[in-house]
Amino acid sequence: MSPIKSVDGPVLVFGGPYGNLAATQALLNEASRLGIPDDHLICTGDVVAYCAEPQATVTLLRENNIAVVMGNCEEQLGSGAEDCGCGFEEGTACDLLSIQWYAHAAAHLDDDAKAWMCALPRLIKLEMAELELVVIHGSVSEIAQFVFASTPEPVLAREIDLAQCDGVIGGHCGLPFTRVIEGRFWHNPGVIGMPANDGTPRVWYSILTPREGGLEIQHHALTYDAAVPAQKMRNEELPAGYADCLENGLWPSLDVLPEAEKALTGQAIDLSSPINFATN
Ligand SMILES: [Fe+2]
Repeated sequence: MSPIKSVDGPVLVFGGPYGNLAATQALLNEASRLGIPDDHLICTGDVVAYCAEPQATVTLLRENNIAVVMGNCEEQLGSGAEDCGCGFEEGTACDLLSIQWYAHAAAHLDDDAKAWMCALPRLIKLEMAELELVVIHGSVSEIAQFVFASTPEPVLAREIDLAQCDGVIGGHCGLPFTRVIEGRFWHNPGVIGMPANDGTPRVWYSILTPREGGLEIQHHALTYDAAVPAQKMRNEELPAGYADCLENGLWPSLDVLPEAEKALTGQAIDLSSPINFATN
């Protein structure tokens, strides 16, 4: 049975803390500044990945009772699997880098954190603005499926059909975007643990706000002191490409990106216009 959250006010959604404690704390501070209570925050998973502070990041989210859907990183780390479960091709840059950060994460999580990961729901139903929304990690059918802004419309429509809802909120791919497809939507708030390959150190989250006759979806960029987690990664001898990325906003490998997203490398993202989604 999937948990159901039924809310009246704004909901803040975010993905991929990735063991980046400073960014996670900055996100919680921002929510507090905006007056959004902790029980109106939802994380799309991958609490632990590339960065240096996996245990402290898990603890921070747990202490604040933040709702989290299971990501592939939680599924793999929680079950003691040997890799992150992204299915990277052997020998590719993503594969080689993931071997290093995954081993660090696995070695720095206690049994209680791993048990918490195993118990996370794979899907959270969110009822707001007279809409039935579904929060998942990758796609509805597969926890580690990469869904991007350029993913073909029939693929998105089929996944939304599977969820039987008005809109899906997903994570995993690391990039923020919103697509409206035949009166329903796919929304990815992006991630807070790593920049969006746009050449800036900004990280991303979203606020969904019930409005008269519908829902407003607003992407937000968050700026925080990225030098702190970058230095912690270097101290732990984690992959330099991801430590550098925290500061320069450029992913060390583009293996997973479709051509459309690769072409946007280094271009500062502008998602300042709200998306208004009408309730039918
Ligand atoms: Fe993921």
